[in-house]
Amino acid sequence: MRLTDTSDLWWKTAVFYNLDVKTYLDTDDDGVGDLRGLAQRLDHLAELGVTCLWLAPFYPSPQRDNGYDIQDYYGVDPRYGTLGDMVEVLRTAHDRGMRVIVDLVVNHTSDQHPWFQEARTSPDSRYRHFYQWRDDVPDDAPASMFPDAEDGVWRFDETAGQYYKHSFYRHQPDLATDHPEVREEIAKVLGFWLELGIDGFRVDAVPFLIDGDGGPEHEYLRTLRGYVSRRRGAAMLLGEVNLPYDEQLAFFGDSDGDELTMQFDFVANQRLYLALARQDAAPLRDALLSRPAIALGNQWGNFVRNHDELTLDQLSADERDEVFEAFAPEKGQRIHDRGITRRLPSMLEGDPRRIRMVYSLIFSLPGAPVLYYGEEIGMGEDPRVTGSRAAVRTPMQWTDAAGAGFSDADPDDMVAQVVAGGFAPQHINVSQQRHDPGSFLRFVQELIRTYRAAPEIGWGELAILDQPHSCVLAHSVTSELGMLVAAHNFAPDGRTFRIDVLGADEGWRVVSLLGDDPAPVTLDEGGFDVELGGYGHQWWRVIRPGERRIA
Ligand code: NOJ
Repeated sequence: MRLTDTSDLWWKTAVFYNLDVKTYLDTDDDGVGDLRGLAQRLDHLAELGVTCLWLAPFYPSPQRDNGYDIQDYYGVDPRYGTLGDMVEVLRTAHDRGMRVIVDLVVNHTSDQHPWFQEARTSPDSRYRHFYQWRDDVPDDAPASMFPDAEDGVWRFDETAGQYYKHSFYRHQPDLATDHPEVREEIAKVLGFWLELGIDGFRVDAVPFLIDGDGGPEHEYLRTLRGYVSRRRGAAMLLGEVNLPYDEQLAFFGDSDGDELTMQFDFVANQRLYLALARQDAAPLRDALLSRPAIALGNQWGNFVRNHDELTLDQLSADERDEVFEAFAPEKGQRIHDRGITRRLPSMLEGDPRRIRMVYSLIFSLPGAPVLYYGEEIGMGEDPRVTGSRAAVRTPMQWTDAAGAGFSDADPDDMVAQVVAGGFAPQHINVSQQRHDPGSFLRFVQELIRTYRAAPEIGWGELAILDQPHSCVLAHSVTSELGMLVAAHNFAPDGRTFRIDVLGADEGWRVVSLLGDDPAPVTLDEGGFDVELGGYGHQWWRVIRPGERRIA
């Protein structure tokens, strides 16, 4: 596949927003969020400036892994509504200028999927080869991803009389994705959602999907991408690949970038938290300097938090302990010895300067930002939920009502309890922040507006700028569309320094993009002086002679 036409590469400058229908808005007061609720809140998202929704799994599911255990790839869990409601959501989102991507979870199914139910009944079942079976457990079996729940990835099934592979929970048997018939079924699933109008997929657990045991390799990802592009030219794949950069690079494909369209930047994410713990930008700076170049059609997904644990598995044990001590001092705030079950605002004890600095930074890095619902109002986790990812999967906080404006159901019937404590809806909610010009919601809205007006961030190249303070990250992003300079301070005290603008020439000026002072500063010998407050952040647009851009 050759990507020469850049007009359809919408993901280069998109603002993604991930939400789970069941915790967003409940319109029939059964305690479970629904698609009709989501449809009602699309205006909130459009106003915020989101350009692409990523819907967490909404398919029929026994819900033993938050919906990542799928029983039917072609349906909608009846508690959320119907396929008809889904089409209404799609239509309304498109009408508001937002695209929609959905989770594609095809490394495994639920053990309740009819394929597995049928497969286990007999070696001659027509679905037996859809899964991975063995008579014994191999010596070199990998450890489970969920060590608190599983002691391995092979489990004996009494009905089948054989072991089956499950990279995740035991109730999630791995599909045999190297088998042509399984691939054909997966293609039909993709085709179905594309035909309904979906704009792409967040691909779950990619390294597991194309890994192993004589299984398919990258050629399969290429096939999937090619298929998606043929069926719907502007559709994309956003893949979950939590690996070091050098290994991750292969998942973008060859120099044309013909496998995953986008990947989350887990490396920068983990280094960001180490930098925050140390109040020193160096760990993040080093990560960004080692971030590999990618093809024009590919993109990084920059994020602060997602729906899983904040995994720190790519840090060394000592580095991880530093982050644990700083941000998850209690055992119950940790999971699997590798991750944290908290959201950023509570980890930073609600310090508005520091929280704003982090989001400003994430939006200023080359790539496309991916928000997790509730981040726009600074939601925290539920401190009563310990040692579980469920702590960050609480109802969206719309108002200060007991049910957070999410639902009027009896709390005992709610799919998840509303957050208690300092980040409860009485303190943090959309309704109150909408009316407060100084609120975090208004800040994020402004950040998104500024990001969208600075397409050089999505298209440009990163340069780390020299300045004397290790606690400061100063960088520029440059493309033919323009140049942005940003500085972020990880330390509590202010810093002053000079920024030299790369390639600066006669008549160049900078103008503040995020901040109160729009007066342009003419560069003095190619640079300008900066005063950055404690945990401060600043963006500037570089204006070259003849450029007509505004701040
Ligand atoms: C990755 C998902 O993000 C996570 O929530 C899930 O538990 C595993 N994949 C298994 O599907």
